[in-house]
Amino acid sequence: MTELSLTQAAEALLAGHLVVIPTETVYGLAGIATNPDTVRQIYEVKGRPAGHPLIVHGPDFESLEPFAIFNSTARRAAKLWPGPITLILEKTERVPLETTGGKPTVGIRVPNHPIALALLRRVGQPLAAPSANRFTRLSATRVEDLDPEIARQVAGVVNGGPCRVGLESTVLDLTDEAHPTILREGFFTKRLLSEHLGKPVGQGGQSSRSPGTHRAHYQPQTPVEIVKVLLPTDHGLSFRKGGQNIVMPAEPAAYAARLYAALAEADRMGWDTIRVEAPPDSSEWEAVWDRLRRAAADR
Ligand code: TXA
Ligand code: MG
Repeated sequence: MTELSLTQAAEALLAGHLVVIPTETVYGLAGIATNPDTVRQIYEVKGRPAGHPLIVHGPDFESLEPFAIFNSTARRAAKLWPGPITLILEKTERVPLETTGGKPTVGIRVPNHPIALALLRRVGQPLAAPSANRFTRLSATRVEDLDPEIARQVAGVVNGGPCRVGLESTVLDLTDEAHPTILREGFFTKRLLSEHLGKPVGQGGQSSRSPGTHRAHYQPQTPVEIVKVLLPTDHGLSFRKGGQNIVMPAEPAAYAARLYAALAEADRMGWDTIRVEAPPDSSEWEAVWDRLRRAAADR
């Protein structure tokens, strides 16, 4: 794996190559969003079906304004940037259909990570960046957890340390301004977004509207099972110390930040099954539950 400086990364990106970049949520597999050849490479390296749209990242609202139609609700939501929220809006002609998987809409966000922001400014063009995992696999929140096959096929990796948030951004569909809808759960919950936007926010997540949200996703190689309590003979992610368990934080944000790295570690243990102790049912665990259910879904 080649580690790149910001200058090297910017040069590689501008030459049309792919670079793995840090964000506050997960590492991204980045390329110039307006270059159809680069975008095709992203799909190929990820092993992602062509109909699955990519998120377009910029360093601030102004830089992204030419790429989507910002209605007034979107302008309000954009006040949460930089941050772990992606807005789905009608795209402008500056975004190639390759980038949006053929859709007339585009997902855009400003990541809250100093290195990502510095790189986006230096490149001066928006970057398309899906999570840097192979299709249906675990996303990486640390450079050491990157799939070696992905690392091999990119110009290099910018190391930004562990990702602070740890789960992918909340995806909020604002194409129908009257009915904002969450398509993927994340750090910004339904309650928080309803308060911020001053209107009710629904929860959709139908696979047709957000193709990345199919049932089996975020999966390690080892099967995952969610259990009430971990028995002393079980292996997995637990809230209590004991046996060979990986001990997880009891607080939801800290748990989220640790989850993918913990699953990646568990995956290297050679266990038959990774058993994950069920977190509480309360709303602040929504995003964690979403990822755990998909990790444990039938493959
Ligand atoms: O936190 C994140 O969002 C990370 C970092 C790297 O920014 N990126 C990420 O990208 O998770 P990706 O491609 O793995 O997931 C994008 C999600 C998918 O569920 C996709 O279907 C949805 O956003 N999405 C993107 N554009 C869309 C569109 N036009 N309409 C509906 N859903 C869209
Ligand atoms: Mg992804």
